[in-house]
Amino acid sequence: MATPWRTAWITGASTGIGRELALALAGSGVKVAASARTADRLAELAQIAPGVAPLPLDVADRAAMAQAARGIAGTLGPIDLAIFNAGIWEPMSSRNFSSATAGRSMAINYMGVVNGIEAVLPGMIERGSGHIAMVASVAGYRGLPPTAAYGPTKAAVINLAETLRDDFAARGITVTVICPGYVETPMTARNKFPMPFIIPAEDAARRIIRGLAKRKFEIAFPWQLVALMKLGRILPYPLFFWYARTFLAPPRRK
Ligand SMILES: NC(=O)c1ccc[n+]([C@@H]2O[C@H](COP(=O)([O-])OP(=O)(O)OC[C@H]3O[C@@H](n4cnc5c(N)ncnc54)[C@H](OP(=O)(O)O)[C@@H]3O)[C@@H](O)[C@H]2O)c1
Repeated sequence: MATPWRTAWITGASTGIGRELALALAGSGVKVAASARTADRLAELAQIAPGVAPLPLDVADRAAMAQAARGIAGTLGPIDLAIFNAGIWEPMSSRNFSSATAGRSMAINYMGVVNGIEAVLPGMIERGSGHIAMVASVAGYRGLPPTAAYGPTKAAVINLAETLRDDFAARGITVTVICPGYVETPMTARNKFPMPFIIPAEDAARRIIRGLAKRKFEIAFPWQLVALMKLGRILPYPLFFWYARTFLAPPRRK
């Protein structure tokens, strides 16, 4: 598939959705800077896909993110497309409520995106073009147990994207928010609850790239889970809590 980008930066590219995105984009001729914490997985990826340049870092490290963006621009060229995808999922509820867990999730899932935007924005503003995509989740549409640490980070990413869309568009920069349902990756491999409509990571990457090429604001899939979750978003609270208990939340443990 021909793509409109020359240089892309993907965070969370060592496994799962990010890795598939890196492989697919590199396969269609895009120069891809691939970031995650685990350097050896990124090195393996670069061996399979010569268009991938490994760039290990922690997205929670603001200075490292800024340095990476400058480095990519200097070596691979101006960043046309930045996909801030790195994330962690730690179930949290009344059984294990912890500010440390919530803080870790926010530092990576939300501040990791913010750090990335801060790093690429000056170059994109200067050129009057660029595409920033942030990976949220259908879990950000409404609060559901046991996502007390994860859900708020994804709701924050969705809100951030909504906030920035028109502002950045006026400067020639496209904003996309990506809301996947369940995808087969190391993140979901340890879930014990049913994951309806789950799709392979390769399929998720295909859908994301198709949506990005169309410069969509929101890329959400699969439609069945998106429809269930979006219905939950428009229901008034008493109806929503019944609906969530009945149709959306994983079975509760005592
Ligand atoms: N799988 C799903 O069902 C699903 C559904 C909705 C949304 N999502 C979102 O999609 C994104 C990708 O998830 P995935 O399912 O592909 O999970 P995954 O396979 O666990 O991948 C997560 C990626 O993020 C990286 N990462 C984690 N913490 C990082 C940090 N501090 N700095 C840099 N990189 C970091 C991981 O690499 P290192 O550990 O090496 O750093 C890995 O490359 C996440 O934002 C997730 O919330 C996933």
